[in-house]
Formats: sequence, structure tokens, C-alpha cells
Amino acid sequence: MPDRTPYVAANWKMHKTAAEAARFVDALLPRIAATQNEVVICPSFLALAEVVERSRGSAVRVAAQNMHEAESGAFTGEVSAPMLVEAGVDAVILGHSERRQHFGETDEALARKVPAALAAGLEPILCVGETEEARDAGQTDGVLERQLQADLAGVDPGRLAGVVVAYEPIWAIGTGRTATLEQAREAIGFIRDTLRARGAAAEQVRILYGGSVKPANAGELMAQSEIDGALVGGASLDPGDFAAIVAAA
Ligand code: 13P
Repeated sequence: MPDRTPYVAANWKMHKTAAEAARFVDALLPRIAATQNEVVICPSFLALAEVVERSRGSAVRVAAQNMHEAESGAFTGEVSAPMLVEAGVDAVILGHSERRQHFGETDEALARKVPAALAAGLEPILCVGETEEARDAGQTDGVLERQLQADLAGVDPGRLAGVVVAYEPIWAIGTGRTATLEQAREAIGFIRDTLRARGAAAEQVRILYGGSVKPANAGELMAQSEIDGALVGGASLDPGDFAAIVAAA
């Protein structure tokens, strides 16, 4: 099995102004100075430049939380991949369940966004995951397979290794209900198998778990060989907690 560098990302969602982001980065950097893991911070669009500037020369890389698939155009309120690249951004979260649920993000749009991000030199962090109803109905694998097939349809097999996938069961996001180790292992193993059908590069794809990750449960989750890291919401807002999760990876 290839070595996959552990990957820990902070999804701040709609939290932290640029000034608050600056204070967070200043508090985080000394705490993660020795890490060999990949550390990614995903602030709001308006705090991206501040986090890029403050984290220069450190292990931290910076991701946006969304982007439009077009390079430019009449799309009021949207931000494109070239704009993010020029701002020093390295990666972008795509298909987060909050965007799917509240903002009408579709698999059709994601099928265009993922290749557009790769073409621009951004690392897509593609989020997939099932609702509680789907899990209860035994449809978890079906949902994951549908999302992966649709969202990655336009990705050349040679580019697959440049994609990061985050398994985020919707019922575990912001609820304090973490998936059990077995549930996370099973779903992430299924995601890896589904990616294998797209080529050998599937072995290099980092697959993260997201959903109520905290310092107290991060170690056991990321000790599973199937789980390559974490996409952290609430617990990533505190530099001490986030640093503890980075150290647990
Ligand atoms: P929580 O860690 O707050 O459950 O959020 C998870 C998430 O949605 C990360 O993208």
C-alpha cells in the first residue's frame, strides 16, 4: 500500500473574520511546528488572503470552501478557480453537504467543478456522505457510489491522485454523533473500492473522515488504516483543539 501523508483540514464554515483568522493562525503555528502531516485551513473567502499571508513558510496550506466552475462570467456573487489561485489558495472544498442541502449544489455542477479545480491547479476536497434516512434504509453504499461516479465523471484517471475525498455522514455533522469506527471504516473502504474502478491512482487518494471529530476521538479514528485524515468543523475553530487533532493524525 502506498504511503499516504495524513491530511487534516479545518473547515471553518461561516466563522471567523479576517482579524479572528489572523489570531488563530498566530496561535496555531507554534503548536504545529513539528508536524509532518498536511495541514489545511479553509476560511471564508474574505479571510483567505490573511491566512495565506500569515501562514507563509509554514506547513499550513489554504483552501476555499466553494468555487464556480467557470473561469469568469456573469455569475453574480461567485468566485472562480483562477481568482483563488491568484490569491495563493491551494485547494477547495467541493460538494460539502451544507452546500448540497442549503444552496442547491448538484452532482451535475460538481462534475464540472472538480475538473475545473484540477485544471486550475487547485486540489479538490470532494465531500460525499449519506443522510440518516439513507443509512437507515441500507442505502449508504448506493448514495456514496452515485455521488462519486457523478462528481468524478470528468476527472481523467491520471489526475485522480490529485483529488482528496472526505466521507462526511450528514447525521454526524455538528451533532456530536461521530460515526463508529466500524461505520467509518466500512464507508471509507467502500469509497476506496469505488475509486479503484477508476484506476490505479485510487491507492494514492487521501480519504478523510468528517463529522464531530474532536481531540478526544481523532486518534482512534485516524489510527484506522482506511482513514487518511480528518475534515474538522466545530473543533477546528480553537487553535489548541485543532493542533491536538493534527498531532493525533
Ligand atoms: P463538525 O466537525 O462540526 O461536525 O463538522 C464537520 C464538517 O462538516 C466538516 O466539513
